[in-house]
Amino acid sequence: MRVAMIGTGYVGLVSGTCFSEFGHSVVCVDNDRSKIERLLGGEIPIYEPGLDDLVARNVRSGHLGFTTDLAQAVRDAEVVFIAVGTPSRRGDGHADLSYVFEAVRQVAMAADGYRLVVTKSTVPVGTGAKVKALLAETRPDLPFDVASNPEFLREGSAIEDFMRPDRVVVGTETARARELMTELYRPLFLAETPIVHTTIESAELIKYAANAFLATKITFINEVADLCEKVGANVQDIARGIGLDGRIGRKFLHAGPGFGGSCFPKDTRALVSSAQEYNAPLSLVEQVVASNEARKRRMADRVIAAAGGSLAGKTVGVLGLTFKPNTDDMREAPSLDIVPALIRAGATVRAYDPEGMAEARRLLDRVVWAEDAYDAVTGADVAVLVTEWNQFRALDLDRVKAAMKAPVMVDLRNVYKPEEMAARGFAYSSIGRPA
Ligand code: UGA
Repeated sequence: MRVAMIGTGYVGLVSGTCFSEFGHSVVCVDNDRSKIERLLGGEIPIYEPGLDDLVARNVRSGHLGFTTDLAQAVRDAEVVFIAVGTPSRRGDGHADLSYVFEAVRQVAMAADGYRLVVTKSTVPVGTGAKVKALLAETRPDLPFDVASNPEFLREGSAIEDFMRPDRVVVGTETARARELMTELYRPLFLAETPIVHTTIESAELIKYAANAFLATKITFINEVADLCEKVGANVQDIARGIGLDGRIGRKFLHAGPGFGGSCFPKDTRALVSSAQEYNAPLSLVEQVVASNEARKRRMADRVIAAAGGSLAGKTVGVLGLTFKPNTDDMREAPSLDIVPALIRAGATVRAYDPEGMAEARRLLDRVVWAEDAYDAVTGADVAVLVTEWNQFRALDLDRVKAAMKAPVMVDLRNVYKPEEMAARGFAYSSIGRPA
């Protein structure tokens, strides 16, 4: 099949590349000329394990191309995916759909016959109907179908998630659209991946409900971790003890500094706004949003406490800045709350992240940028582990201790074992576990 993928952000680039790996002929479109030029030169604008090889292979085989020429890509395609960004609108938390509607308008103008237009961007329930209306209004002369095909991939394991998903969700209105979508995903159905066929509205809402549920699970365990600290319980034991109940499940019960990233914060806010708009408030999700934001703001207090109540004139070594490992993404990362709060409290911050430094330099001021983890903790009064990169799981702790002014570590990801850290002579604190 011939596919046009509009938008080469995370979702667009990964989905487009994976569809080409299925054997479809895919052209990825972006209006950012420099991004397309980089992609044409074989440079991948995001850090995602395995993506560079997959892109290179499919470009070589002729299945994958990149262009800024949206009109040509649409004329050449049977199916057009919209995978442009839907950031939070300033002020009200609603998803900003201006990029989606602009892309749809351009698709309509360029089309020269029937097209199936599929939204892969995360869009609020009701957007599919608006897309359909916009297509009909712009080109009353042409037949269009609209579909919703939300994406569930995680940054850092995006290719695996796309190629081996738990399910594929497809919302359609016509038999023709349903058949085209089934054909597109045929390689997955041969591997017995379940496909959930729904209406467009249900497919749109499934995406938000899934992300809100996962965000709720994380927030739940984070609040339980706070209680554990008061009563001397261990949150990892609680997570295991409840997670082995198949109805609860073990995943997404890691307590930490609060969820970040490009999806959970934005999507929970957007779901809250939609629900309020339709007068069916999701009070639980409202509470999740508030609890998580407050949590991220509070994390620096742990470092101040570990330093004995004051950071004035002290040095803090920060390990990890991205919102999670295996990505260079800094969007809504807990570090963006933690680092400025440490600096406001009088600390000198030395920070290191394996992939996030370039973006971190743009977003954070007055930080001393370190060469590696050991450089970050050199002369530090406290080390803070903010993102659980593998290289921070395997630190030479004697070397860390020798480099630091005082062996004090705040581990916001529960990477190390409290008893081991104590045996090595660290004053160690973590999340929801007795010291
Ligand atoms: C998330 C979902 O997991 C994907 O299914 C979804 O497709 C994606 O959003 C999206 O909507 O595009 P992602 O944001 O890449 O994926 O990252 P996650 O691995 O889900 O982590 C999100 C945040 O939750 C991170 O800050 C992570 O540190 C935190 N987290 C996750 C925890 O604090 N504890 C956990 O147990 C799990």
